[in-house]
Amino acid sequence: MQIGGGKMAEVLQTEVLVVGAGAAGLRAAIELAGADVPHLVLGKRRHGDAHTRWAAGGINAVLGTRDPDDRWPVHAADTLKEGHFVCRPDTVETLAREAPDRVRELAGWGCDFQRAGDGGIEQRYFGAQTYRRTCFVGDRTGRAILETLVGRAAEVGVPYREDVMVTELLVEGGRVVGAFGVDLRTGALLHIRCRAVLLAAGGCTALYHRSSSRPDENTGDGPALAYHAGATLRDMEFVQFHPTGMVGPGEMAGMLVTEAVRGEGGRLFDREGERFMERYSPEHMELDARDVVARAIDREIRDGRGTEQGGVLLDISHVDAERIRERLPAIVDRFHELGVDVTREPMEVAPTAHYAMGGVRVDFDSGRTDVPGLFAAGEVTSGVHGANRLGGNSLAETVVFGRRAGIHLARTASRNRPPPEASGALARAEERIQRLMEGGGDEEPAEVAADLRTLLSEHAGIVRSGEGVRAGLTALAALRARCVRLRAVPDRADPHFALAANLRHMLPVAEAILRSALEREESRGAHYREDRPEEDERWRRNVLAQGGKGEMMITTEPVADPSDEVRAALEEAEGVDYHHLE
Ligand code: FUM
Repeated sequence: MQIGGGKMAEVLQTEVLVVGAGAAGLRAAIELAGADVPHLVLGKRRHGDAHTRWAAGGINAVLGTRDPDDRWPVHAADTLKEGHFVCRPDTVETLAREAPDRVRELAGWGCDFQRAGDGGIEQRYFGAQTYRRTCFVGDRTGRAILETLVGRAAEVGVPYREDVMVTELLVEGGRVVGAFGVDLRTGALLHIRCRAVLLAAGGCTALYHRSSSRPDENTGDGPALAYHAGATLRDMEFVQFHPTGMVGPGEMAGMLVTEAVRGEGGRLFDREGERFMERYSPEHMELDARDVVARAIDREIRDGRGTEQGGVLLDISHVDAERIRERLPAIVDRFHELGVDVTREPMEVAPTAHYAMGGVRVDFDSGRTDVPGLFAAGEVTSGVHGANRLGGNSLAETVVFGRRAGIHLARTASRNRPPPEASGALARAEERIQRLMEGGGDEEPAEVAADLRTLLSEHAGIVRSGEGVRAGLTALAALRARCVRLRAVPDRADPHFALAANLRHMLPVAEAILRSALEREESRGAHYREDRPEEDERWRRNVLAQGGKGEMMITTEPVADPSDEVRAALEEAEGVDYHHLE
């Protein structure tokens, strides 16, 4: 088929296609390059500008630099507790065991982690962790890690294409055999033939109005591509709202104010100057779990104790100014642009959608999904974080499981056999692109996307209810109908084309979030239902969303028990009273 005035798709062929050029995708690609397996990395943005860049405060690994009593079972226990025991215990153990080697490896590749007096990698507190185990590069840790991985990938010869949006995975005979996409800069079409796809395309928090992602990243591409290909999504109801995002109009609204501010001693106040966490969590205060602190802030704002702009105040001005500038340079700079000197005055903050704990169900030894030929790693997956994620565990997850998927794909690559042909799937992908270009009405893609963000923020936000979620599903059906009447966008390099194409990704992801939130008739971690405010032991299960050709199907499955070592660490119940930060 020829699309858009006779233009054919450029055809590329490789063994493994990596979709996503953030930390998980690059870490996997480094293994593929090391094993000489033909591969290609596709990024939706400019190379080196993936969402990983915005991860701020740090990466967790048991190094014991500050707290020699820390051990991997305690890291695993903290992760399971924070995840309210619906994480996959074996996966959590792998994360806790392997993160130290991955952090040392990054340091060996040149990542400039802050050092302690003895030369060891410095570690700071992050919320709900028993010990100081978060390693950092000021408050630009994600950027430093991504730059390190980009540099390493260049050294070992990882090939990449930037500005490519994958619109579809090509499935033939039940197997993923390639991908179809658009070069967003030139509008050129791309057909990539391959024997395996590794999805490392991030999460879906840009489906909310206030989000710590930029509006054109984390738009649900990863989970939606997997879902459309027939893979199972798990625990989509668990969306993490980070307690502290920037407040106010304009581009900075929702941007992350790193947890490191609180880890370094920052305190939260309402507009009258009351340190309100005393009422919500007298023991853990500002460093309680993210869901607890986010709900507390949300409550304060909704009860009228917030600032005029709809935030609360985060103050670190009692800490030595030199230390603030050393530990939190990006925060100092960003607020300086707004005319706020954080060494002397408080910042205005409010919760922001930050991370999807839910995503594609995978086997974490290999990254394998339910669909032959399809693998996944990083935020697009589910299972590591359960109902709530510890700050600092996502960067750890990307490098631990990105590497594992890369090793598995390298080991199983069959270098010499050409990838199977995609015929029907290719024609369908081309037809969909053609329909977007021709349009079907006068609905503006940007408006429909904005309405979808409003819908999820209102019906599946920090606090939900069965009735609210049901109303959200009804509203989603109406919104889906509008998507059939989008206006024509004949130029594929027009940013509205990407927006229109994105809606096909956003719809099933929004539906999975709403349906899973309705299914889970309890409150757990980041999923808080005011009509079912208690955690219910019978719900120590994962919620699954499956599509295939028919309607979305929701089922549940039980969670395994942790190993004896981790159970012992849980029973020791080592806890920390963060008042020593005072
Ligand atoms: O607050 C932060 O710096 C976020 C870190 C994380 O989500 O891991």
